[in-house]
Amino acid sequence: MRAIIVSDREAGAKGMRLAEHPRAHAAENDVVVRVRASGFTPGELTWPGTWEDRSGKDRTPSVPGHEVAGYVDELGYGTTGLTVGQRVVGLADWARDGSLAEYVAVEARNLVPLPADIDFVTAASLPISGLTAWQALFVHADLRAGQSVLVHGAAGGVGSVAVQLAREVGAYVIGTGRPRDRDTVLGLGAHEFLDLGTADWTSREEVDVVLDVIGGQIGEASNKLVRAGGVLVTIAEPPARQPAQGRAVFFIVEPDRAQLLEIIQRVRAGRLHVSVGTVAPLEHAVAALTSRSHVPGKTIISVGD
Ligand SMILES: NC(=O)c1ccc[n+]([C@@H]2O[C@H](COP(=O)([O-])OP(=O)(O)OC[C@H]3O[C@@H](n4cnc5c(N)ncnc54)[C@H](OP(=O)(O)O)[C@@H]3O)[C@@H](O)[C@H]2O)c1
Repeated sequence: MRAIIVSDREAGAKGMRLAEHPRAHAAENDVVVRVRASGFTPGELTWPGTWEDRSGKDRTPSVPGHEVAGYVDELGYGTTGLTVGQRVVGLADWARDGSLAEYVAVEARNLVPLPADIDFVTAASLPISGLTAWQALFVHADLRAGQSVLVHGAAGGVGSVAVQLAREVGAYVIGTGRPRDRDTVLGLGAHEFLDLGTADWTSREEVDVVLDVIGGQIGEASNKLVRAGGVLVTIAEPPARQPAQGRAVFFIVEPDRAQLLEIIQRVRAGRLHVSVGTVAPLEHAVAALTSRSHVPGKTIISVGD
């Protein structure tokens, strides 16, 4: 099958190339999905699962891209709950080959049926942004109605979903970003917008929850915004230090059927909007995923017809 592969850990996204790769096969409880759309997050190339299997053995060349939407093509021994030909969406295991390919093997428990009224491109943009935002706010920060949350990078993939989910749950939402992001972030439902290019964002009143998708100095400077008993959830990199008050936590998103179904339900009901930017075919995936030009929204790779 055709796939985007990586073999060089140091090269990052620049090491991605289109190649022939052994076709995915269904192990026990697996589904092989004929991929129609695939999503990729640059951070995954720094995560061990891209390069090593669960026993720590080199597994390169490996296929990145772990968001998948497509058709069930094959069922493994013992796989229940899904049928060949069914439309599905989900998040592939980090330590196995991913979805920037014509086929991907995924554990059935990590896939959910995809309703006919959500197209494959939209679907492939949901698992990482949706599950990461959900897990950050409701699993790691236990955000509740009446609390305040500051979401960095609020116009981006994870941030934009987090703003909408936090607003829906009844939190006071502050979104941050670049000046050009202001209208987008307020349009998503944030109560306030802070421009990270100005120094005074750090002197804002403390909040219950900070969701940091950027890291570096912005992550570090965010420590002082965490209220006593509050939490800084960071997804870009582990925190360099803990805040003086509250705590900081880093996590890597996990597949979760129940949470993904919640996300899909909100999209169908028009309560959650995702922004897709570039859509490119597999043969142009490397150029699209490494492009330096700014296109708002997530880049999705379409596969097949
Ligand atoms: N740990 C996990 O499980 C996990 C899961 C998903 C994603 N991630 C990681 O989290 C990060 C964010 O993912 P994403 O999909 O949300 O990315 P994204 O769509 O690129 O969103 C990031 C947002 O932050 C903004 N931003 C970045 N640096 C900024 C700065 N210095 N000042 C102001 N705004 C800035 C970006 O604006 P511009 O586009 O203008 O730069 C963009 O709006 C990535 O590093 C990704 O790999 C981790």
